[in-house]
Amino acid sequence: MLNNIEYKDYRKQDDIHGTTLYPAVMVAPIQKSILSDIIKQDEVVSIFDPFHGSGTALYEAIELKPDIHVAGCDINPLANLITRVKLQGVNKCVSRDVDAVEYYLNNYDEIYEYSFPNINKWLRNDIIDSLALLRTAIMKIDNNQNRLFFWYMLNNVIRFNSNTRSSTYKLHIKVSDSINNIQNRVIDDFLTSSRRHYDKFFHKSNNFVLYKNDILDIIDYFDDDLYDVSITSPPYGENATTVPYGQFSMLSLYTIPAYDLELEGWELDNYSKIDNNSMGGKDRALSLDKYENNLLREYLDKISISKHRKIIRFFTDYFYFIRALCRITKKYIVLTLGNRTVDRVEIDLVSITKKYLKRYGFKNITTAMRAIPRKRTPKITSNVYQKPVNSMNYEYILIYKKSK
Ligand SMILES: C[S@@+](CC[C@H](N)C(=O)[O-])C[C@H]1O[C@@H](n2cnc3c(N)ncnc32)[C@H](O)[C@@H]1O
Repeated sequence: MLNNIEYKDYRKQDDIHGTTLYPAVMVAPIQKSILSDIIKQDEVVSIFDPFHGSGTALYEAIELKPDIHVAGCDINPLANLITRVKLQGVNKCVSRDVDAVEYYLNNYDEIYEYSFPNINKWLRNDIIDSLALLRTAIMKIDNNQNRLFFWYMLNNVIRFNSNTRSSTYKLHIKVSDSINNIQNRVIDDFLTSSRRHYDKFFHKSNNFVLYKNDILDIIDYFDDDLYDVSITSPPYGENATTVPYGQFSMLSLYTIPAYDLELEGWELDNYSKIDNNSMGGKDRALSLDKYENNLLREYLDKISISKHRKIIRFFTDYFYFIRALCRITKKYIVLTLGNRTVDRVEIDLVSITKKYLKRYGFKNITTAMRAIPRKRTPKITSNVYQKPVNSMNYEYILIYKKSK
């Protein structure tokens, strides 16, 4: 299983996964090839991705087997929207609906109010006006599938016309000269990209369910052996200091009307709320048992005490999650993982996870390591004690099978 892991020539720009940006996405053909091998060897009727992000694995699953049941969960409403659109696709009248948006852009009586906290920091005034007009035009589209597709396409338009730098997933303001030089391409970018890409959204599933939730809040309600295959890439550490999926999403989430998002109600409270509520971010009671403490001991001993709490908090969530995943998965668990560094100490998430999976009844089929060719998270991250810190440069793919 997994003979080719490089996929150096794969360009996601050529397929559905290149149609919108989301941080830390998996490499689609790798996931597809793993799923394809598993499906050839075993009967698979259901696939689960508990941290589906932009829906890479779930979409690849329905490409391989259109009638397969796919289920996913993500705490981020933008991830939910992106994945929903990939799975439900567009309606056949989409081309007519793009023309309708263009018509409404040129013929309007009113523009719906559009504002959010700190809007002027992140969007120039003329960009706000263009987005308000475009947003009003999209809101007039009746077809639910196509309207959601248009919000999906708006995600990149906002990002590329905003005052945030493209070099990082964080919201990080450009210098004022660069802001002045932004060409307002809101309308053009939207119409061009919608027309260029809609035909990638005709492959769809009628057999999917997405949960817009904290996986830790819902996983205990899932039955034992519910899904044949669980395939995912979990966060490697708390979002705030690893990958800020929430912050990345906020400009889009503040622009898309709430009625077209799956919201529990707290997500838009502030720019950090989603990241703070994500894995390892919440202030839960810390509870590691003796075995778990031993797994972390060698790392904690080398890391400053002030950082222990955040590491233990992450692993409290992580172990809870992996234990439950082992319970609800009937056949295979496939994880794409990276190691992270705290205080220049590499925490070997891969080896910790392997031990844990074994303890909870899974045996290793394959472990593969892959250099990450292009990364938006810089190779060297922040300075600790004046020395630069290496961030993750490799990812690992673990394939495990439930022992009889
Ligand atoms: C590495 S990304 C997944 C990327 C995905 N595999 C893809 O290809 O796009 C991890 C995801 O976990 C989500 N996440 C973090 N904490 C979560 C939690 N407690 N419950 C559900 N989702 C969570 C983040 O919002 C993010 O989308």
